[in-house]
Amino acid sequence: MDERLHKHGRFFDVWSKFYRNNLFGQALRRVQRMAIEKLRVVPGQVVLDLGCGPGDGAAQLAAAGAIAIGLDYSEGMLTTAKREEQLAGRLLRGDAGRLPFRDGAFDKLVCTNSFHHYPDHFKALCEMRRVLKPGGLMVLVDPRRDHLFGWGAIDLVENAVFGLEEVRIFSVTQWCQLLGEAGFSDFRVEPGKVWSPVEWAEVFVEARA
Ligand SMILES: C[S@@+](CC[C@H](N)C(=O)[O-])C[C@H]1O[C@@H](n2cnc3c(N)ncnc32)[C@H](O)[C@@H]1O
Repeated sequence: MDERLHKHGRFFDVWSKFYRNNLFGQALRRVQRMAIEKLRVVPGQVVLDLGCGPGDGAAQLAAAGAIAIGLDYSEGMLTTAKREEQLAGRLLRGDAGRLPFRDGAFDKLVCTNSFHHYPDHFKALCEMRRVLKPGGLMVLVDPRRDHLFGWGAIDLVENAVFGLEEVRIFSVTQWCQLLGEAGFSDFRVEPGKVWSPVEWAEVFVEARA
């Protein structure tokens, strides 16, 4: 398990050096902004950005008045995130499958384009529900299996080209099943809109713990 985590961590340590400095990184940033808007954060709410990457999502949450906590496994990504002053003392290194938080610690949780990297997807989803307050909202976006670009980016590029064999993506139907099995009470799962190629290849999940 640890070696798989380290492999993904090293992949993102390298990627962190140019993550947002290209069209793909900017498209991912747009998707992240959309996900955060769906959270409808109210000032004072405690929000986890899981797989926070370079920290701009957590910074957006903090700017909206949330108490934003960012967790990521990559030291390189966290080094970039630490440049965001408002996140001082609010960034942690950890694995999504073993979240270092008490039950019900968060009002809301956002997770964008990170979930497919987790070594144990179901365990991570159960952890996400556990750390949310009952009724707390999770917004998650990830590439979807039932779209050619999603399948190509993850199963071909990340898996076959970069050797990340553990990556796993799910179709809209599979997501509904996973969320039910992980104990989410109320959820909506939708494919992204057609007009944006990156967004179209994603699944948008809104689920309540
Ligand atoms: C493609 S980036 C997405 C970053 C950001 N959420 C965004 O939307 O741009 C995926 C992030 O997930 C993190 N990640 C991968 N596996 C992880 C794990 N098991 N636990 C925590 N973070 C993980 C990576 O280090 C990376 O920063």
